Amino acid sequence: MFWENRYQTTNTPWDRGETSPALLQWLDAGELAPCRVLVPGCGRGYEAVELARRGFDVVALDFAPSAVRYLQGELRREGLRARVLAADVLSWLPEQPFDAVYEQTCLCALPPKTWEAYGMQLYRWLKPGGMLFALFMQTGREGGPPYHCDMDAMRTLFSRDRWEWSGSPFCEVPHPAGIHELSTVLLRRP
Ligand SMILES: C[S@@+](CC[C@H](N)C(=O)[O-])C[C@H]1O[C@@H](n2cnc3c(N)ncnc32)[C@H](O)[C@@H]1O
Repeated sequence: MFWENRYQTTNTPWDRGETSPALLQWLDAGELAPCRVLVPGCGRGYEAVELARRGFDVVALDFAPSAVRYLQGELRREGLRARVLAADVLSWLPEQPFDAVYEQTCLCALPPKTWEAYGMQLYRWLKPGGMLFALFMQTGREGGPPYHCDMDAMRTLFSRDRWEWSGSPFCEVPHPAGIHELSTVLLRRP
C-alpha cells in the first residue's frame, strides 16, 4: 500500500517531527480548547499527542499500520490516553459526533475525485456548531500527493450552505517539504 510503504521506507517528507506551529497557535490562543476532537490521517500523530497532553478527548485515524503503531507507542511512552484507530477516512463513522476536527494534510493526500466524499465525512463527523481547524496545502503544482488545495476549490467544497467561513485572513504555515499550508477555521452549520 502506497502510504504504508512510505512509512516503512522512511520516505515521509511531510513529517515535521514535531507539533505543527498552527496547532500550537490555536491552542495557545484558546481558539481550540479541551473537547472531543478527531485527527483524521494523523500519520505519526505529533498533534494527537499534543492534544492528549492538553486534556482533549482525542480520536486519531490513519489506515497505515506503521503510523498507527508509532503513535500508539508515543502515547504509551508519555502515559497519555487517546484512541488511535486503523481506519479509512472515507468510510469510518463515529458512534458520536465531535466538537472539533483537526485536518492537517489528509485532504491533500486523497485523490481529488474523493474530495466531495471526504468533505461529507468531515461534515458528518462534526456536531452542528462544531469547528473544523483546517490546513489547506498549497503546492502550486499539478498532480500529487500532495494535491494542491486551491482556495476557490476549497470554497466550493466547503460550501456556505454547510460551512461558515471566518472572516479572518488565512495564515501561511511553512511546511518542511518547502511548500506551505493556509490555515483557517470553519464552523459546521446545523
Ligand atoms: C501527508 S500524510 C500526513 C500525516 C499527518 N497528518 C502529518 O501532517 O504529518 C497523509 C496521511 O493520511 C493517511 N491516509 C491517506 N489516505 C487515507 C485514508 N483513505 N484513510 C486513512 N488514512 C489515510 C496516510 O497514511 C498518511 O499518514
